Amino acid sequence: MKLFEKRGFSLISLILIIMFSSSLIEAARVNLPSTNDGNNKNSIDDEKLVGVFVFNTTVQIFNNLDNQNQLTVHCKSADVDLGAHVVANNQDYEFEFRINFAGTTLYFCGLTWVGGTGSYDIFKASRDSSRCASKCVWRARNDGIYGYLESKNQTVADIIYKWS
Ligand SMILES: *[C@@H]1O[C@H](CO)[C@@H](O)[C@H](O)[C@H]1NC(C)=O
Ligand SMILES: *[C@@H]1O[C@H](CO)[C@@H](O)[C@H](O)[C@H]1NC(C)=O
Repeated sequence: MKLFEKRGFSLISLILIIMFSSSLIEAARVNLPSTNDGNNKNSIDDEKLVGVFVFNTTVQIFNNLDNQNQLTVHCKSADVDLGAHVVANNQDYEFEFRINFAGTTLYFCGLTWVGGTGSYDIFKASRDSSRCASKCVWRARNDGIYGYLESKNQTVADIIYKWS
């Protein structure tokens, strides 16, 4: 009986927390200043604000290896195995998902080519919800795997994993 009550309590708490968080997000959306100068900057900020909860994150892994080398990509999370995919030279492989409510989403990918192999954290919510919440671009090159910043329009790599 005690246990049952405890469970009932946690369930109610969880529902209240979710409702409270949603109303905070809603309040934050509503309180954004409206624009009347014709630009739509605020609606972009607005989307970013709710993005983590509502919109998908896309991960895109490019094969930019030299000499027409193929790249094999095999990504997994705690509950999803996306299978192995062979990516031709200068092509890309992508997948999308929604960051979980707890913010613990983690996708790791085995990357393999004739010059190297390894398993790398390709999306980790604790690291990446600020780096690339809507699109995370990686480029596999001969000397390593480069992860790009979305805020720099995918032109600046701030993470480089060397091939192991
Ligand atoms: C988000 O990603 C899932 C796959 O994880 C997909 O089924 C769904 O259609 C995507 N939603 C949008 C709006 O693209
Ligand atoms: C971002 O990059 C894309 C293609 O790489 C380009 O078309 C776009 O103009 C760039 N945007 C900005 C704001 O630099």
